[in-house]
Amino acid sequence: MKTIKIFDTTLRDGEQSPGCSMGIDEKVIIAKKLDEMKVDVIEAGFAASNQRDFISIKKISEVVNYSVIASLARCNKNDIDMAYEAVKDAKKPRIHVFIGTSDSHIFDKLHKTKEEVIEIVKEMVSYAKEKCHDVEFSLEDATRTDANYACKVIDAAIESGATTINILDTVGYTIPREFSSFINYLMENSMLSKVDVSVHCHNDLGNATANTMSAIKQGVNQVECTINGIGERAGNTALEEVVANIDTRSDYYDCKTNIDLSKIYEISLLVSEVTGSVVQNNKPIVGKNAFKHEAGIHQAGVLNNKKTYEIMNPKKYGIYQDNMVIGIHSGKHAIVDKIKKLGFDKDKYNIDDIVSDVKCFFQNKKEITDKEFIDIVNSNKKIFKKYEL
Ligand code: KIV
Ligand code: ZN
Repeated sequence: MKTIKIFDTTLRDGEQSPGCSMGIDEKVIIAKKLDEMKVDVIEAGFAASNQRDFISIKKISEVVNYSVIASLARCNKNDIDMAYEAVKDAKKPRIHVFIGTSDSHIFDKLHKTKEEVIEIVKEMVSYAKEKCHDVEFSLEDATRTDANYACKVIDAAIESGATTINILDTVGYTIPREFSSFINYLMENSMLSKVDVSVHCHNDLGNATANTMSAIKQGVNQVECTINGIGERAGNTALEEVVANIDTRSDYYDCKTNIDLSKIYEISLLVSEVTGSVVQNNKPIVGKNAFKHEAGIHQAGVLNNKKTYEIMNPKKYGIYQDNMVIGIHSGKHAIVDKIKKLGFDKDKYNIDDIVSDVKCFFQNKKEITDKEFIDIVNSNKKIFKKYEL
């Protein structure tokens, strides 16, 4: 079965989310966790962008054992020198160079011609290759780039020594079918088959994971993502969503990853704490409600057989919370289950009265604590009358 490499950019693109900046020590802690989780590549930062990034990439390079350590670099010698200086002590260093390839990026941002950009790619990828054998080249805004031109840029980068080519949906513009046709076209009309092919998708239209999965189906073997999907604007593809898709639907994708899934929840909590970026309750896999059932019909089904409403086992992702939530929609089955879990003998209580008291409680409350639930149970104890003959 084919293995998809997971390239995590939480410490670079993820950190670019407004308000998500991290200190050097915090970055090192997260990098160690990513390494333990067996992420294939950690993009530790953008060495030339600031001193703190440079130092943290260097420190991360010293402590990480398993993962490749990459630093981002623009297509200029100073950026590439800084990137190499930062990663050179890593067990597996990588320089990641990028340049905009869409007309808008070439003309409005770089103020170059298309031919000039190809020359820059050749010169800068060769320069990076002289320093480091592992060079990733990214076509920024690839999905808004003319496909024939993209093929020319890709071939120039591969001929100059790039070992991974990354196709970017920088502005989250593409949609799954279009993206897979685009990838297919690039694969058939360039030298992509000679190197690792990667995708990097943003979530502006909410399509980041779907686009990434469609590219996997099309044959790419590296995907770029972040923990909790943090990143520029609406964020990047969420790592936990990609690995859960691959694991849960291996029948469809026919591939696997090296990720230790049991570490997912712990690292999600860590990234959320360090960045202060709260994970939405309904976020797949790591959201507070991702595996919870409140509706009576669902609860009754799950209590009979989890398969009725659960497609994944939360424990696999390191999530060990109770998945039954008592709420206004809960029925007798879940309430009895909760009574038993709290250690009460259900036969000593008036269950129907407890159910109606619980429903009453939720007329003006949203959540119930165990203490509040226990108070309701205790107030509905059966009274056994004693008769003496
Ligand atoms: O989304 C993007 O285009 C990027 C590049 C800067 C690599 O993250
Ligand atoms: Zn990005």
